[in-house]
Amino acid sequence: MTYLMLTGGRVVNSGGSVDADVLVHNGKIEAIGNLSGLPIDDVERVDCSGRLLLPGGVDVHTHLDSPMMGTTTSDDFETGTRAAACGGTTTLVDFAMQGPGEKLLESLDKHRAKAQGRAAVDYGFHMCVTDLYDGAVDEFTEIMQTGVTSFKVFMAYRGTLMLHDGALFNVLRESGRIGGQVCVHAENGDVIDRLAADLVAAGKTGPGSHEISRPPSTEIEAVRRAIQIARMADSPIYFVHLSTEGAVEAVAEARSQDRAVAGETCTHYLTLDRSLYDAPGFEAAKVVLTPPLRTEEHRAALWRGLRAGTLGVVSSDHCPFCLEEKRRLGAADFRAIPNGGPGVEHRMIVMYAEGVRRNQISLEKFVDLTATAPARQFGLFPTKGAIVSGADADIVVLDPNGTTTISAQTQNQRMDYTPYEGWTLPGSLEAVYSRGEEVARGGKYVGAGGRGRFLARSTQ
Ligand code: URP
Ligand code: ZN
Ligand code: ZN
Repeated sequence: MTYLMLTGGRVVNSGGSVDADVLVHNGKIEAIGNLSGLPIDDVERVDCSGRLLLPGGVDVHTHLDSPMMGTTTSDDFETGTRAAACGGTTTLVDFAMQGPGEKLLESLDKHRAKAQGRAAVDYGFHMCVTDLYDGAVDEFTEIMQTGVTSFKVFMAYRGTLMLHDGALFNVLRESGRIGGQVCVHAENGDVIDRLAADLVAAGKTGPGSHEISRPPSTEIEAVRRAIQIARMADSPIYFVHLSTEGAVEAVAEARSQDRAVAGETCTHYLTLDRSLYDAPGFEAAKVVLTPPLRTEEHRAALWRGLRAGTLGVVSSDHCPFCLEEKRRLGAADFRAIPNGGPGVEHRMIVMYAEGVRRNQISLEKFVDLTATAPARQFGLFPTKGAIVSGADADIVVLDPNGTTTISAQTQNQRMDYTPYEGWTLPGSLEAVYSRGEEVARGGKYVGAGGRGRFLARSTQ
């Protein structure tokens, strides 16, 4: 079997960087160092001089082919994972939604079938629990045995996704008992529903009202409540998509008391401003996502939280709905606009440009937040998330002297817009390898179809 050698690049891991060659064989990283004198013939050498070699991105928050708010996310496992690959993400952990009236294992099997043979990169699942029917927690062990070792619960969306506090407590307690993790969507759903109803009653039905109905305190209260519920349940807890300064403070406080509390934020909360809700017409629907975008003050607190280690993961929350679909469902009432936006394709380059190149975080921290820490958090490390001997050869070749211009016209996500339209960023993703196979070059997918494998995750 042919060897692949990436020569002359700078290998960046979360713990440090080194100028080195990387030797790949059978999909795995076999050696790292000065390998120029290695006595092997059957080797394809790729010159990576002047390039950064990064671990393939690990995005632990995506919604592919997922039913939500009366529709389905626009990217399926084929288009979404190809877009991920083109954007330097070689591992996804996607949310398997429990459908109305369905048992957990039934919904998980359905979601598994959607991915089977279609994914371009490796993937795992979290199981969303939206209805804790009698006996649901008894299925947790079997779910975990299939390698799905984390659950997601919602504290918002009453009547469809939301669990009441007793059910949240039960999920945390049972998951904690068997070594699982619970990802919590922390927003006070009842207060949001009241505020939203008041806005509609006052005739404020446009997409800009979405933000007003979800003020920062609706997140902060829910985060603080969930931390207390996790304490009562004696369980670790992981907060998805945190967006506010107060949430960062709550997580920091709990962690300073040695509580197993972890937090994630997303690319858009770090880089986009709430003023997008002031756009005319229906334009603001592009950023009708939950929680909403915030002010500069919150963004600065999120970056500080990342630097301090309070927040450990940056994910995309890729939950795409085309603008036309948002309009079809929610033109008359913002509450019916499907919540979510695209992001899987641009998470890595936006974080590199806005984080590293604007001196918000180091290169090593960027690798940690986008690959190493999510892999560790969700039982994928060190197979994923690092360039080390024995790991899967998931490697991104980034040219720091290149530039990337983002546009809906050229993106691979199945979307009619991107919130980053027209952004020109320093750095370009030259090539992306997944298990040693080149899957993307110059922003185009070049791998085989359906080559991605399901990743049974361990508990960590
Ligand atoms: O805006 C989003 N992402 N909405 C739905 C999915 C989620 O993570 O809550
Ligand atoms: Zn959520
Ligand atoms: Zn999400």
